[in-house]
Amino acid sequence: MTTPAAVIMDAATYAQAVEDAVKASAAYYGGGTSALDDDAYDRLMRGIAEWEAEHPDQVLPGSPTGKVAGGAVEGDVPHTVAMLSLDNVFSPEEFTAWTASLARRIGHEVERFCVEPKLDGLAVAARYAGGRLRQLITRGDGMAGEDVSHAMGTIEGLPDELAEPVTVEIRGEVLMTAAQFEHANEVRTAHGGQPFANPRGAAAGTLRAKERAYTLPMTFFGYGLLPLPDTETALAARLGELAHSELMAQATAFGINTTATTAVPGITADTVEQVLARVQEIAALRAELPFGIDGVVIKADLASDQQTAGSGSRAPRWAIAYKLPAVEKITRLLEVEWNVGRTGIIAPRAVLEPVEIDGATITYATLHNPADITHRDLRLGDQVMVHRAGDVIPRIEAPVAHLRTGDEQPIAFPETCPRCGAGIDTSEQRWRCENGRNCHLVAALSYAAGRDQLDIEGLGHTRVVQLVDAGLVTDLADLFALTREQLLGLERMGATSTDNLLAAIAAAKGRPLSRVLCALGVRGTGRSMSRRIARHFATMDNIRAADAEAMEQVEGIGTEKAPSIVAELAELAPLVDKLAAAGVNMTEPGATSPAPHDDGGTGDHDETAERGGEPLAGMTVVVTGAMTGPLEKLSRNQMNELIEQAGGRSSSSVSKKTTLVVAGDGAGSKRAKAEDLGIRLTTPDEFAALVADYLN
Ligand code: IVH
Repeated sequence: MTTPAAVIMDAATYAQAVEDAVKASAAYYGGGTSALDDDAYDRLMRGIAEWEAEHPDQVLPGSPTGKVAGGAVEGDVPHTVAMLSLDNVFSPEEFTAWTASLARRIGHEVERFCVEPKLDGLAVAARYAGGRLRQLITRGDGMAGEDVSHAMGTIEGLPDELAEPVTVEIRGEVLMTAAQFEHANEVRTAHGGQPFANPRGAAAGTLRAKERAYTLPMTFFGYGLLPLPDTETALAARLGELAHSELMAQATAFGINTTATTAVPGITADTVEQVLARVQEIAALRAELPFGIDGVVIKADLASDQQTAGSGSRAPRWAIAYKLPAVEKITRLLEVEWNVGRTGIIAPRAVLEPVEIDGATITYATLHNPADITHRDLRLGDQVMVHRAGDVIPRIEAPVAHLRTGDEQPIAFPETCPRCGAGIDTSEQRWRCENGRNCHLVAALSYAAGRDQLDIEGLGHTRVVQLVDAGLVTDLADLFALTREQLLGLERMGATSTDNLLAAIAAAKGRPLSRVLCALGVRGTGRSMSRRIARHFATMDNIRAADAEAMEQVEGIGTEKAPSIVAELAELAPLVDKLAAAGVNMTEPGATSPAPHDDGGTGDHDETAERGGEPLAGMTVVVTGAMTGPLEKLSRNQMNELIEQAGGRSSSSVSKKTTLVVAGDGAGSKRAKAEDLGIRLTTPDEFAALVADYLN
């Protein structure tokens, strides 16, 4: 998908466009934030190129077309081998056409491709001599770059010393992960500075900044390894012959960070179809990655293919960037709303001037908590960088501070709960109404009655509102005391619906402990964590008796989470008592109580060993596609419950740790990945037979 080029009508508009584009690329590559987002910049560049194609005699010498980094930056450290840019494709058709033209150029099909994420940071060359990091250089204009050696020691993944005393140059991308970016803005605003608009701008600004009172960590991912003039002859010869995939393995062995450590490692592919499938996989994983990518880079893997293809002045002919849709746009922050959730958390939400990102119109974005607003120094009326990838809720990265007009206003924080007017507990980062779960009872009850919790059919949002408004229910346990007469007294409630609802409520009393726990909405736990807690402790009494140390024995609960879960359960104790008195089940079928907390001091309490008899013991299972046969009616959550009851671990993504993939109808990329990794696959029917004892 290509956005249309900007329309340029005359020489004056062309000159202005050249000036705007040069300014934008200077900001982009030089550490500032461009006033144009990537889409707008691409459109402008294409408009310039189109006009120049029609008026070749009027091309301005300062035009950014055909130059590395748009000709915006220069440096004074010469590169030993030019540091080039990449040409782009935007669709499978364009990619296929590119492979065909490459095959024509080299006289045969490309032997093998390498497929890597296109990391959204800045290209850097790191020179090592005798295994020690000596110099860092930016790409600059491709021929010479700027010396940024002052950043040595602040970049994770670029060690001071390699595992071997070699003299080599490693090329790669310096970026900030999402966590590093958050940290950077926190530190920077605390020092009275203006926030960086996005991780890329933050990395660019940080890399070039020489004298700062603080250091901001960044991350390096290597994607190239080449000899330097001083490299030992034998090593230089060997590096010249290695395939790109082998060079990456060598870089990893030297101790350099590469994409191999991420959820989207570089892989090799033999066919165009395999490459395109991998592009789709990487695109699907993009939203979950802890760092930004803006595309996928496909390279001819073999050194011989690369050499035959050669390079142009701007880009190599043996590699191409398959660009993914932009996930960032600049728009205006109009307002901040404060909403109370089911547990009483008061969360801010940004109201934006509508903006289209990758085909969806965005009007809201999450803001995590009040401290988050302060750390980013956000103001009403700010131009903000909005990020949206996949189905993840859009978020504001930061204001684009240099676009401020001075009319921006501070964001007012609420002094009382915006829903019920009670006081606010501001002792934690996330503010909470002092009425806790009672503040937004309707939300708490609707959640508890939901399909993955108590699964009470007929108790939807509207019915819950009716019950709460009529004063019949003041907490979750009251549901179980509802009488036929009370329900019949409600509007639009006939005898049949009443009897059905009462039956559904009665059935809910028998749900497993894991679902009861989930229905309580303990902060910091969700469905799968509730299942792990319930399986570990087997009874509610055991859970309530657990202190933080005992809670930490549950997989996935660390030292930070354990005390807050214990505190939440203490807060919920009266409600739990009331539920138990109403006859709600408080045990987990099939789970056995943990041994008393005495493991001889070793600290490891091996649950899997105890559960050795279960069919999925020790296995990590991923479900994909539509279930059929005996599993047809099970939701994903119910499939996950089944896997865990049968002793396995459920997971949503396929990785080397996956042991089994249940692939139903329409299974796509997860199935393909399992096949790639040689992971065992089963059909829903085979799986049903495997766990037959646990199907009811
Ligand atoms: S290869 C000669 N591989 O994208 C080959 N580049 O738009 C050029 N980039 O300048 C680089 N991830 O800064 C390569 N896996 C990757 C990359 C990558 C990000 C950057 C790099 C390059 C720019 C071109």
